[in-house]
Amino acid sequence: MSTLAVDIGGTKIAAAVCDANDSIIQRWRVPTPMNADAINENIAKIYHEAVASGHTDIQAIGVSAAGNVGADRKTMTFAANIPSWLNYDLSEHIGALIGHAVPVVIENDANCAGWGEYVHGAGKGSRNMVALTVGTGLGGAIVINGELYRGSFGMAAELGHLPMVPDGDTCGCGLRGCAERYTSGSALEHFAKSAVRRRPQDAKRLMELCGGDITKLEGPMVSQAAQEGDVLGLYAFNKIGEWLGRTMAATAAVLDPDIFVIGGGVVAVGDILLEPARYNYARFLEGSAYRGHAKIVAATAGQDAGLIGAANLALR
Ligand code: BGC
Ligand code: NA
Ligand code: ZN
Repeated sequence: MSTLAVDIGGTKIAAAVCDANDSIIQRWRVPTPMNADAINENIAKIYHEAVASGHTDIQAIGVSAAGNVGADRKTMTFAANIPSWLNYDLSEHIGALIGHAVPVVIENDANCAGWGEYVHGAGKGSRNMVALTVGTGLGGAIVINGELYRGSFGMAAELGHLPMVPDGDTCGCGLRGCAERYTSGSALEHFAKSAVRRRPQDAKRLMELCGGDITKLEGPMVSQAAQEGDVLGLYAFNKIGEWLGRTMAATAAVLDPDIFVIGGGVVAVGDILLEPARYNYARFLEGSAYRGHAKIVAATAGQDAGLIGAANLALR
């Protein structure tokens, strides 16, 4: 018994055949094409290659995709990155190309990564978990009593779009002031760039790292600077950490989880991000001094969390 897990990312499609314990047996990795048809064809090709190379026991394909997935776990209702995914039956499109040989189950990317953390990572053994994926956007996953919570329309856990700032920055979703405008990899770059412009006298290290062109400044450079103790790098992490804390406090007012698992590339800096997040979580949490506090920890399943989660969810 195995599953084919597919993670459609902004730059690459990662795929893996996983065994019954969600362990990865064989991998694929191709650049993400620009259009929806080519994405479907790539996934079908990987499936056919997997079968041809002996994985004849694949029971389902689990697909992780950024954006809103309908309650049917088939349809992409909206995705900011791929415009043609508007009420788009991704499951049917892929299914048609493989002669409907196996079911194709679509899940939100952060739900997959969060579920991967729940079954095999930092969330293991918890009861009520919230996972936040701090990447280009801010993704969320909610587990209640050991079950992934999808809501009534498949739209639960879109925590990146919690309305945090009235009339704030415009978000890719069309609304303003969403949490992901203030806490995400993109927000980290934004805070660092604006700090460089306001405090050029302190920007020596960041300017070095981006080769003197501030428009080329990227998240990993900010992480490196912060880890070296650079004041503006640390400032940018303090800002996204603060907003992460505020976002978790708002989430706790509704869900009261026992653990928050923080994933995504930026969490590699560890406490540089997590300390301001914990501090501000406690600061904005109702009844803070008189209640239990959720643990706030870094994800541990790494880059494969999404694949592992997609593999596991495909058969549930
Ligand atoms: C999208 C989510 C997605 C998250 C992480 C957000 O902007 O709305 O659906 O899970 O980014 O990719
Ligand atoms: Na989600
Ligand atoms: Zn938004």
